[in-house]
Amino acid sequence: AQIALEKGFDGVDINMGCPDKSVFNRSGGAGLILQPKLAKEIILSVKKAIKEGIKKLNIKKDITISVKTRTGYKIPETKEWIGSLLEAEPNVICIHARTFAQKYSGLADWSQIGIAADLAKNTKTKIFGNGDIKSRQQALERIKEYNLAGVLIGRGALGNPWIFKGIIPTTEERFMVLLEHCKKFTEFFPTADLSIMRKHLAWYVKDFPHAAEVRNELMQINSIDDVKKILSRIQVVP
Ligand SMILES: Cc1cc2nc3c(=O)[nH]c(=O)nc-3n(C[C@H](O)[C@H](O)[C@H](O)COP(=O)(O)O)c2cc1C
Repeated sequence: AQIALEKGFDGVDINMGCPDKSVFNRSGGAGLILQPKLAKEIILSVKKAIKEGIKKLNIKKDITISVKTRTGYKIPETKEWIGSLLEAEPNVICIHARTFAQKYSGLADWSQIGIAADLAKNTKTKIFGNGDIKSRQQALERIKEYNLAGVLIGRGALGNPWIFKGIIPTTEERFMVLLEHCKKFTEFFPTADLSIMRKHLAWYVKDFPHAAEVRNELMQINSIDDVKKILSRIQVVP
């Protein structure tokens, strides 16, 4: 946590939701759902470290401590699990409304997020809901319905960063952002292979004639030039 402060970050997010087996088996991520006492101790020690770090580094801004988690291990245990986390008073709890066992299957059970929001009502902890949000409109509805501080959008933003503004981009805009994404990727990972980006690029390509063919072609690219060649052949009709 102190390293995060030294590097100038605004907060520390503690992952108590990752369902990956290797993480879970080491009591990391969602593994902490089975160890509520340890989870609480982690939050408290991060809080202590942040408090000390703020003093030591003379930081003037607020630093947010958040926990990202799920609703339970095999079945939702929201009352017990979130109730226990609330005792450690993190600033924010973000809840992906699936259990560990569900991984990404089935549907997110938003009624559990409602239960968590009720539990947190008279506390200082803000609740953010997460799971299966497909549009800005839906996000706003969920915030209102469950009385939340906000929601998190994951897969709904893949190839669709416009979801946050709630706008439908033109095909031209999609291509521009797709290319920008490629450029940012190569700036950020100069030695990485652009083929890693193939599926991400394909997610941008939809809602125009022959989009499926273009997606197939993008699944073969190895360079930005390959991407440009494919896009330049497509006549964009605004
Ligand atoms: C490929 C992938 C990677 C993810 N990595 C993280 C992560 O590093 N930390 C985290 O808190 N959640 C991670 N998540 C979970 C998402 O934050 C989110 O909880 C989940 O996808 C459900 O939300 P969604 O339906 O909006 O996608 C990941 C999800 C996916 C699909």
